[in-house]
Amino acid sequence: MKLNRLIFERLDHRILVGTVSFLAIMVLVGWIWINENARMAAFESQYLARSIERGAELFGSSCSTCHGIDGRGALGVAPGLNNPDIFGHNFLAEIDTQVDALNLERTEVEAQGNTDRVTEIDAELATLQTQRDSLITQMQPAVALGYNPESPSRLVNLGWGSTLHNFIYSTISSGRPVSESYWSQPMPAWAQANGGSLRPDQLEDLTNFILNWDQGDDWTIEELNSVRQFAIYPINPATVSAGPQEPPVGATTTIADIMVGLQDVTGDPQSGDQLYHGVAFGCSGCHINAVVAPLVDGTWTRVETERLLDPQFAGYTGEQYLAESIIHPGAFTAPGYAPGLMPTTFGDRMSYQQLADIVAYLKTQDQVE
Ligand code: HEC
Ligand code: HEC
Repeated sequence: MKLNRLIFERLDHRILVGTVSFLAIMVLVGWIWINENARMAAFESQYLARSIERGAELFGSSCSTCHGIDGRGALGVAPGLNNPDIFGHNFLAEIDTQVDALNLERTEVEAQGNTDRVTEIDAELATLQTQRDSLITQMQPAVALGYNPESPSRLVNLGWGSTLHNFIYSTISSGRPVSESYWSQPMPAWAQANGGSLRPDQLEDLTNFILNWDQGDDWTIEELNSVRQFAIYPINPATVSAGPQEPPVGATTTIADIMVGLQDVTGDPQSGDQLYHGVAFGCSGCHINAVVAPLVDGTWTRVETERLLDPQFAGYTGEQYLAESIIHPGAFTAPGYAPGLMPTTFGDRMSYQQLADIVAYLKTQDQVE
């Protein structure tokens, strides 16, 4: 009997010791685990901070000439990256969520015959609509540069299926050789693997630096309006018109041959207006700011009262001057402007009809300045 109790006590004792040491080990493991995570997190955030710093330096030396020191882009040169559009911030989202909820409720209460609530909801909807319109009005400076508040995400607009990180990294790595057709200089390829000068870790640093511009929900309309250039969306002719493609004028066609080609078409100023302000050619993207390019206002007045008086244009008609300015921008540089900024590729992208339309539109710009 006594012996029996002794054995049991020993057994209890051992179970107790075992349990206690097990718990102690668990606590220790947990403690190490928690600390290790905190240590790793601190390490990672330090690592990221250093990467962003290195990225900032690279950006200053390699990218700011085109994208601006503050990353807001440069008109006619390169789009802003420090830009709510890249991060997909939707300034209208909050209002739109409320409108959707109210519309849903409206359908319900209308079915229930609750006309009082319907009237209330309609008043609320009207207020929200006014607020929405007012937000869009505040965004006008950005809208004038091609920003679309109703479709405010670069990645969505491009149908990009992967992450923003990959979008930025791969653009820096391979550049956008095709953007040559719609920018005066294309986005260069930077990866050593693609003939550039940057190592993979430097591409990563630059990507981290650009991603660090995101402000989440804190983007302001003021910041949006400080973007100097938004992305340009070239229209792919194949997707626009299913009919037979008109042959382009050709960038190297002589001005004499161009004038012959133009005789077969009649220009439509309204269509020219749309082409001029549309995204396919992006004319107004540059000709909106007199510092960058001559303003569209008064173009025809200037042609008649200034350009044609230049001996270089003896025997030219105004139409000829315009056609040459568009297809061969290098032939003459408007006084006070940088040569070589206006793209020389319009001839390869524009049909005679489109050229005639744009010239007809520019001829309507005859108001005296
Ligand atoms: C010679 C001028 C030039 C330089 C220098 C340049 N870029 Fe660009 N970059 C462009 C142009 C033009 C585009 C627009 C291309 C397009 O629309 O397809 C662009 C596009 C981009 C984009 C994609 C933006 C978008 O909305 O599609 C990123 C990201 C970018 N550049 C990062 C950089 C970084 C980082 C550097 C420096 C390593 C750099 N760029 C240097 C001209 C330049
Ligand atoms: C990347 C900026 C840029 C784009 C895009 C651009 N231009 Fe220009 N354009 C200029 C600059 C800068 C000048 C003045 C220097 C010169 O004459 O080359 C100019 C000059 C002109 C002139 C001569 C104006 C004058 O007063 O003599 C005409 C006409 C013109 N552009 C039409 C167009 C049309 C039409 C398009 C679109 C199909 C277009 N531009 C797109 C930058 C641009």
